[in-house]
Amino acid sequence: MQALDTQVKIAVVGAGAMGSGIAQVAAQAGHEVFLFDQSLEAVEKGKAGIAKQLQRRVDKGKLQQADADAVVKRILPASQLSELASAGLVIEAIVENLEIKQKVFGELEDICGEEVILATNTSSLSVTALGSTLKRPERLVGMHFFNPAPIMALVEVILGLATDQKIAEQIHATAAAWGKKPVYATSTPGFIVNRVARPFYAESLRLMQEQVAEPQTLDALLREAGNFRMGPFELTDLIGHDVNYAVTCSVFDAYYGDFRFQPSLIQKALVDAGRLGRKAGQGFYSYAEGAERPQPLTAADCTSPETQVLIEGDLGIARSLLERCREAGLEVIEREGSGLIRYGQATLALTDGRMATERSVADGLHNLVLFDLAKDYATATRIAVAAAEQTEEAAVQDALAFFQKLGIAVSPLEDAPGLVVMRTLAMLTNEGADAVLQGVASAADVDLAMKAGLNYPEGPLAWSDQLGQGVVHQVLTNIQQSYNEDRYRPSLLLRKKAFAKTGFFTQN
Ligand SMILES: NC(=O)c1ccc[n+]([C@@H]2O[C@H](COP(=O)([O-])OP(=O)(O)OC[C@H]3O[C@@H](n4cnc5c(N)ncnc54)[C@H](O)[C@@H]3O)[C@@H](O)[C@H]2O)c1
Repeated sequence: MQALDTQVKIAVVGAGAMGSGIAQVAAQAGHEVFLFDQSLEAVEKGKAGIAKQLQRRVDKGKLQQADADAVVKRILPASQLSELASAGLVIEAIVENLEIKQKVFGELEDICGEEVILATNTSSLSVTALGSTLKRPERLVGMHFFNPAPIMALVEVILGLATDQKIAEQIHATAAAWGKKPVYATSTPGFIVNRVARPFYAESLRLMQEQVAEPQTLDALLREAGNFRMGPFELTDLIGHDVNYAVTCSVFDAYYGDFRFQPSLIQKALVDAGRLGRKAGQGFYSYAEGAERPQPLTAADCTSPETQVLIEGDLGIARSLLERCREAGLEVIEREGSGLIRYGQATLALTDGRMATERSVADGLHNLVLFDLAKDYATATRIAVAAAEQTEEAAVQDALAFFQKLGIAVSPLEDAPGLVVMRTLAMLTNEGADAVLQGVASAADVDLAMKAGLNYPEGPLAWSDQLGQGVVHQVLTNIQQSYNEDRYRPSLLLRKKAFAKTGFFTQN
């Protein structure tokens, strides 16, 4: 399906944060764009904001003055809805209210005629419900941009129950022609990103609640071992806890209280206290002038005279540690086994979702210390470890010394199922898998959405493939057994793939 020709006029209704950004994107792509808002002041402010933004790029030498002027000229302020009659596509970005949006779409249907495509930028309302009061619901589609629209690449193209597939395809092609990365999703609560991302926040909040680690340590681990740009606590401080908590509550309610989406009492307490994050000067961290960010928990230097490390069996995703051992001057001795590292008195293993204390007993592993997943063990600068209750202190020291020898800072955590990065990835994968299972989106679109919408270092489904077949399913099964909670139930699709020994993108 072809993108809309640049001769087609676009209209944007609502000139706030999102509407003006979307108008800028369409105008930059060469369309004339009507910009309408119930407040003429908002239109003027929106257009002035766009001009200012473009001027900044001219000043930096990234844009020609003539091109910036042409973009601004293509934005046509409108003071009446009736002025949008000649638009071929109207994108609505007004207040998040079902009835108000339905009323505006009803008026637009009459004003713009039968051929117009109507699109909504709603984050949380059902496209199906928005279309239910229209004469031609098949011509309504979700076109969900991310904030700030001119910068964020992702556009979720949302199909309501009545949306014409061809209309969705045309909007998908148009978003691509505008330089965006579009994905398809059916109209379900949270679409892709706002659903699949929930565990990123939820698992760290849970770990904090169980006193496994403090926010600054969990943030550092997700950044330095997980390669996420920001940790969940600093990110929610930036988003605003009122906004993030409201999205979590709305997804939880929309899925009829599915415990997978259960909001956190810790975040609620922050909202209740008015500690909304950066904008309030206080969230998990203080933003008062001169306030210093607390340092993540990092083990003090431990020395060990050991120069040999025994690698028993295949370390799986962690096998690049071998090269790092050699580079650090350790003698690496490989032998048969079940994926263990023996260093000094310590037995080290990658978490499989069980607590170290439990696994030590179940597998008869003396002095067990578990380590967490890293996105890339060859470059990771920090790793979490958790020792079993019965592990001797000397063995813990050897485990810390091992990673330190490789130049990796170590954050020792309380023994909890799945540590931090592994547990977060497992739950992100689980949510993505369920979205695929339920036909919300394809596996490729789930991954693309998480990368383009939230800058994830990798799509969770491709990332879990890299861990090896069945690994994430095993981790989740073990976490679920530890908690005995529905929240950790593995998606049927993950279970199926584990038995079939296939990945989301890889075959056995
Ligand atoms: N802010 C975000 O991060 C974000 C991201 C994606 C999607 N969205 C969605 O985009 C939409 C707009 O959000 P925003 O953040 O730009 O809000 P905003 O408050 O910045 O702007 C909304 C604008 O709509 C105007 N408006 C309200 N009712 C109107 C009506 N009946 N007719 C014409 N104009 C009207 C207001 O005057 C205001 O200028 C919402 O549906 C929101 O859920 C927001």
